[in-house]
Amino acid sequence: MRMTDLIAKKRDGERLTTEEISEMIRLYTAGEIPDYQMSAMCMAILFRGMDDGEILDLTMSMMRSGETLDLSPIRGVKADKHSTGGVGDKTSLVLCPMVAACGVKIAKMSGRGLGHTGGTIDKLESFPGFVTGISEERFFDNVNRIGIAIAGQTAEVCPADKKLYALRDVTGTVPSIPLIVSSIMSKKLAAGADVIVLDVKCGSGAFMKTPEQARELAAGLTRVGTLAGRKCAAVITDMDEPLGFAVGNALEVKEAIDVLAGRTEAGELLELCLTLGANILTLAGLAEDEAEAREKLKSTIRDGSALKKLAEMVEAQHGDPRAVYDLSLLPAAAVKCEVPSARTGFVSHIEAEDVGLVSMHLGGGRATKESAIDLSVGVVLHKKVGDRVEEGESLGTIHAADAAKAAEAAELLRKCYAFSDEPAEKTPFIKGVVH
Ligand code: URA
Repeated sequence: MRMTDLIAKKRDGERLTTEEISEMIRLYTAGEIPDYQMSAMCMAILFRGMDDGEILDLTMSMMRSGETLDLSPIRGVKADKHSTGGVGDKTSLVLCPMVAACGVKIAKMSGRGLGHTGGTIDKLESFPGFVTGISEERFFDNVNRIGIAIAGQTAEVCPADKKLYALRDVTGTVPSIPLIVSSIMSKKLAAGADVIVLDVKCGSGAFMKTPEQARELAAGLTRVGTLAGRKCAAVITDMDEPLGFAVGNALEVKEAIDVLAGRTEAGELLELCLTLGANILTLAGLAEDEAEAREKLKSTIRDGSALKKLAEMVEAQHGDPRAVYDLSLLPAAAVKCEVPSARTGFVSHIEAEDVGLVSMHLGGGRATKESAIDLSVGVVLHKKVGDRVEEGESLGTIHAADAAKAAEAAELLRKCYAFSDEPAEKTPFIKGVVH
């Protein structure tokens, strides 16, 4: 196989065979295809696209480049969830305990945050003592015993994707549906779940900016997952503003617990978790239809079983379960300050990515993989798109380590908001579900 020939083939719009794709990924992972040739291939794929068979071949080749998790020691249906990345996205913290309380097994490997989006693993470490680096044996045992474990990635999953994603990042080839689908699904398939639900974010704070792009990605993800023999659904959700109210690790945990404890009115976060959860339960065969699934999920909030499930997971991973019921045991920032609005009007837009950067500025996010983070800091928004606000009324509360940082962050947060004189039209939060 000559890489030059494969590049020319794709450049001319021809399809690549299973053998060609598999060999290309094997050689690239082994360092035998140079980055300049792989960049040309990625660009050719970006312009020419791939059919479903090629995307599946690419996905499976990348999955096989590293370790895969065999979840067969876990009894029952295993489910996993993936989000394409958003600001204030604490969905897993709510969804996973609810679904586990309904009897679906959650054996989830999760990542740390980088840049303006946070990672579930960091958020969970807000529980004093919580350990995310547990052995495989303990991970399986916890899932069999209590139905849920969320751990940091230990296995060397999809090294081909790691290398390829870094290359795409610097060659303008990230926004290609076949490359995104194979990148995401290779990792999800390697994680071993039977049921996979995907939360595809759409809007200014996501890398799919329009509902059409998000729908195309959602359809690609579910088609490849299904072709690979898993049960899949994707939900397309708005990321034109942060999800919910809190952005920052411990602050997001507190918001998630408020939802699980039934202390908050039905909002977007709960609606998203009910939609994702209903898809999991129906695909897992634990509910006949969406209405029955939603009712089962809601009952886990009413009877306290979802909150109890979270506490059991925290305890099984050496954390302090009392913090689930007493939020004062979670990290809290030394300084809190309000951000008064400079004008009267209606909130027309909140730049999600910039709110994520405010939290990062406070020390809540990582600039590099090695950076330490402050779990206590962040922002709690009081005004969301469509809300009326009076001059001087607080847009949000900054939680900071010191007064100087708080003042800087307040200025930055004010700039994230845009206003109009008339109420902005709110687009639907859930933009569609793809099976
Ligand atoms: N997330 C991934 O894991 N891969 C992509 O290509 C894009 C987003």
